Amino acid sequence: MTILVLGGTGKTGRRVADRLTARGLSVRVGSRSATPSFAWEDRSTWPAALEGVTAAYVSYYPDLAFPGAYDDVKAFTELAVRSGVRRLVLLSGRGEPEAQASERTVQESGAEWTIVRCSWFMQNFSEGFILEPVRAGVIALPAADVPEPFVDADDIADVAAAALAGDGGHAGQVYELTGPRLLTFAQAAEELAAAVGRPVVFTRVTPEEYVAGAVAHGVPREEAEGLSALFTGILDGRNASVADGVPRALGRPARDFADFARTNAHRFR
Ligand SMILES: NC(=O)c1ccc[n+]([C@@H]2O[C@H](COP(=O)([O-])OP(=O)(O)OC[C@H]3O[C@@H](n4cnc5c(N)ncnc54)[C@H](OP(=O)(O)O)[C@@H]3O)[C@@H](O)[C@H]2O)c1
Repeated sequence: MTILVLGGTGKTGRRVADRLTARGLSVRVGSRSATPSFAWEDRSTWPAALEGVTAAYVSYYPDLAFPGAYDDVKAFTELAVRSGVRRLVLLSGRGEPEAQASERTVQESGAEWTIVRCSWFMQNFSEGFILEPVRAGVIALPAADVPEPFVDADDIADVAAAALAGDGGHAGQVYELTGPRLLTFAQAAEELAAAVGRPVVFTRVTPEEYVAGAVAHGVPREEAEGLSALFTGILDGRNASVADGVPRALGRPARDFADFARTNAHRFR
């Protein structure tokens, strides 16, 4: 009865693995640095990661909206079910047609499924690609003045772990997970500044300027272009609403950005 947590050292996967382990469940991390190693780009590594596994948390890397993701998720899901996996929880992205294609593959797999379809993670600011800009005091992104309901990765992990552990009521659910409040990137920067006690400002840059800056800081061009496309594509207002996934799944409110900023203030200094 082993639960495979893909991306189990990442922002959501690490939290999912911790919660399952705390419940006394047997967890196997699926990532390149794990033993056995799992790599999305090397399908020969998949069978060993799936051996003896009955449930899996599927978080794709780098992003479910990137080219190739759908083929990988489809092939992985089919192999997982053939290998004896009976429960799948997919980490998905809100308002992304490519991600929704992967959702359908999981829903049609024959396994019990739960979809956690998330808005932008608050942890992009504290553990992801926006941490260094926050520390430097200037967040320069190709983001329009459109509000986003940032969600806390701890809330995502609470939902995913409950579904993976088989707690009642989560099978067959698509949970739209968002935070409780809409914030533009400029407003998020203001909240971070208030928590840290020094200026943090948001500056809007063009997609070209963003890609050039990211590449200069060592981000592979393909990844920088993919991220830039997410900013210009998804931040067009389609996700500018709060959803009820966290209260519906957990019976409590989602965590607010101000609380996140306060708790993580030490990381931003
Ligand atoms: N960030 C957001 O705001 C957001 C919003 C909605 C949905 N999502 C979705 O979230 C997913 C990412 O999840 P996350 O943010 O929790 O993860 P993450 O923090 O990006 O962590 C990446 C994880 O994947 C592993 N990894 C990296 N490259 C890999 C590879 N080539 N093969 C196998 N494993 C690899 C890493 O471990 P190793 O280095 O050991 O391999 C690590 O455990 C994406 O699919 C994205 O679409 C993100």
